[in-house]
Amino acid sequence: MTASHEPSLFSIRPVTADDYEQLISLWILSGTHLEIQGRESKSAFLQQLEQFPDLYLVATVGERIVGVVLGTHDGRKGWINRLAVHPDDRRRGIAAALVIACDTAIRVRGIGIVTALVESDNAASAALFETLGYREDVPVRYFRKLGGPST
Ligand SMILES: CC(C)(COP(=O)(O)OP(=O)(O)OC[C@H]1O[C@@H](n2cnc3c(N)ncnc32)[C@H](O)[C@@H]1OP(=O)(O)O)[C@@H](O)C(=O)NCCC(=O)NCCS
Repeated sequence: MTASHEPSLFSIRPVTADDYEQLISLWILSGTHLEIQGRESKSAFLQQLEQFPDLYLVATVGERIVGVVLGTHDGRKGWINRLAVHPDDRRRGIAAALVIACDTAIRVRGIGIVTALVESDNAASAALFETLGYREDVPVRYFRKLGGPST
């Protein structure tokens, strides 16, 4: 990354329960598709946070949350989810720092694959992951089955 980034101006810390409302606002502002009646409801979110307290991370400038990433793993593979940076704070290395912190925290568990699903029209996110050494695995078809209280 270039010297124009100012990493000293933001910090990274684990998500707390009190962050929930700010995170929902940040995701909405970032155009993230949310399931507020499902897996992004407050109760579902807090249950997930208990499972991955050190992989759910925010970047802050003072008290303000400017970025978020939700890391998870299934014991074999790590996942980078719900990455978003506030539009006013982009291109300052915040997403890169969040992904690196999350990726590192997953790998210290002995998990050697960390993955992210990026929509095909999301050039910014694709460029970010490329920059960080992730390589696109194609062709992949993504199948899913919805159902249950937290979809
Ligand atoms: C994608 C996103 C998280 C990037 O956040 P960011 O903090 O601006 O990214 P960074 O500053 O850490 O970028 C690091 C590198 O990634 C690449 N990159 C990031 N955004 C880019 C863009 N819009 N266009 C081209 N390259 C980009 C660049 O190589 C950049 O390094 P550089 O600034 O030195 O050129 C942000 O644009 C965002 O929140 N988008 C909306 C939500 C989203 O798409 N989330 C990802 C879901 S998979």
